[in-house]
Amino acid sequence: MTDQRVSSFQRVSSLRRRGHPQGRDVSPVALVTLRALLGDERVQPTLRQRDQLLEHLHAIQDAHGHLSMVELRALAAYMNLPMAEVYETATFYAHFDVVHDGQAPPPDTTVRVCDSLACQLAGAAELKTKLEAGVDPETVRVLRAPCMGRCDSAPVVEVGHHHVQFATAEGVEAVVDTGHFQPEAILWQRLEAYQQEGGYQLLTDCRAGSVSVNEVMTTLENAGLRGLGGAGFPTFKKWHAVRQAPGPRYCVINADEGEPGTFKDRYYLEKSPHQFLEGALISAWAVEAQALYIYLRDEYPGLHRVLHEAIKELEQAWLVTAGYIILRRGAGAYICGEESALIESLEGKPGKPRHRPPYVAQQGLFNRPTLVNNVETVYWIAPIWQKGAEWFAGQGRNGRSGLRSFSVSGRVKRPGVHLAPAGITLRELVDEYCGGMAPGHQLAAYLPGGASGGILPASKADIPLDFDTLQAHGCFIGSAAVMVLSQQDNLQAVATNLLAFFADESCGQCTPCRVGTEKMLSLLERDDWEVGQLTRLAQVMQDASICGLGQAAPNPVLGLLKDFRAELAQQQIIVSDAAENSEKGSAL
Ligand SMILES: Cc1cc2nc3c(=O)[nH]c(=O)nc-3n(C[C@H](O)[C@H](O)[C@H](O)COP(=O)(O)O)c2cc1C
Ligand code: SF4
Repeated sequence: MTDQRVSSFQRVSSLRRRGHPQGRDVSPVALVTLRALLGDERVQPTLRQRDQLLEHLHAIQDAHGHLSMVELRALAAYMNLPMAEVYETATFYAHFDVVHDGQAPPPDTTVRVCDSLACQLAGAAELKTKLEAGVDPETVRVLRAPCMGRCDSAPVVEVGHHHVQFATAEGVEAVVDTGHFQPEAILWQRLEAYQQEGGYQLLTDCRAGSVSVNEVMTTLENAGLRGLGGAGFPTFKKWHAVRQAPGPRYCVINADEGEPGTFKDRYYLEKSPHQFLEGALISAWAVEAQALYIYLRDEYPGLHRVLHEAIKELEQAWLVTAGYIILRRGAGAYICGEESALIESLEGKPGKPRHRPPYVAQQGLFNRPTLVNNVETVYWIAPIWQKGAEWFAGQGRNGRSGLRSFSVSGRVKRPGVHLAPAGITLRELVDEYCGGMAPGHQLAAYLPGGASGGILPASKADIPLDFDTLQAHGCFIGSAAVMVLSQQDNLQAVATNLLAFFADESCGQCTPCRVGTEKMLSLLERDDWEVGQLTRLAQVMQDASICGLGQAAPNPVLGLLKDFRAELAQQQIIVSDAAENSEKGSAL
């Protein structure tokens, strides 16, 4: 037991003896400070709404750099919530620093080094070691962090809320020394410029009744627009399902973009936030939503400002009622990209996926029917209407139809978002859009759908990349995050990187995922991999996990066992088929 734990144990015991349980006292000073920061809840009762909890936690964290227990107790009183619920939510999210009574607050500056696959390939581990050695730990702390959605400029480091791309130790230290922590400036298309190109005409026509919901749905059906957040569900069908459910209804846009390797939503939001907002408002109109929520990941602080301003432009131009669009910040939890976890998070709770049924289309936000769509899905609505369904559907290759925005990272000359025909093969994508492989690298493997979508060898670089084309190979395209690996890359390091990500990001709600990811990680760290043990564990995770995180986590490992035996042997990993070596009993 550490000194600190001994002293807090003694303190708790002495308080219990006095019949005065710890954690109940609310500091009047803290409450006054809170009101000065958040507003007076006695005057504005909406500030007490449970769904405001994450926003309030952000406000405190932004103002003070951490969340003390005194502040959490005051917040619980302010919101009239049990302290346990405030604490549970605050401690669920990586971006909130809860500091217990008697603990020192974190140093003033936090440096987060992205350790997801693209950054690992670009030397993030060495960079982190150098930074740890180079900074003063009294004033700066260096942490690891999952994908920051900037994989085309790896390695990426966040200092405060400032992202350093193509980061070097010297560059990051310069940012720390100068104290220049501001989010990046984004040049975005303003409302007037967007309207000059015909922007918001479709929304205006929809609202005026000159375009009907059925007409828009038929156009989206003919275009073949499918959900681009990963699941690929036809967009018109989802609209239909939500419209069938009795109102009131909500519309939620998923801008959480946490899948490692994915950065297309950021690209489109930076390029034309109004094209996105028009699509989002048309979706909300289609389901007669009471309000439109946008859940934006906290790793995009520059975009938070852009969207805030773009929404203000719309309100000032009377294109939307003030307060109809509600912009919310995530807080560093990949699982909140899963739609029911996202809804929990919007409601001010830990982001734990819900059991289904009921589906969110029937019972989503505040238990009302909810349309959840990805940023890119709605981004295409106005152009498809303007250019016609045939324009979108008429593109595609190798028997497939439509366009896909591939976020490409790893060992290619030109990583980035490449808009290409659906069904393009990896070989074609790399050669025609990415300028070929990076110098000195030969294609060895690729991940067609981010961390979750599995892994394929170079010999399978001619498979059309699209929804439904990869399942036979044990993979899926998901959000079209393509990570390209070469002969220089260590497959064991790749697998452990991906499983470490899933283990860190598991919400912990179900055993197959919480224990399964940790156990699989420990098995992968060994130099002999036992097929029976790994596949039995994978089976349990796939069959019994509540949500897609746990179900998909084994995909890269199963891919390696299937297609990469020779490569693993070259890298000194012994893959043993002997099922009799398997431990008996539960795979977990
Ligand atoms: C673990 C997990 C993470 C997800 N992350 C995202 C995400 O970051 N962004 C997203 O749009 N969809 C994500 N999804 C998919 C959403 O649950 C949902 O299908 C999607 O937002 C629906 O929008 P769409 O139909 O327009 O694709 C994720 C799913 C799972 C299982
Ligand atoms: S599968 Fe993982 S992330 Fe999903 S509910 Fe279970 S523990 Fe949570």
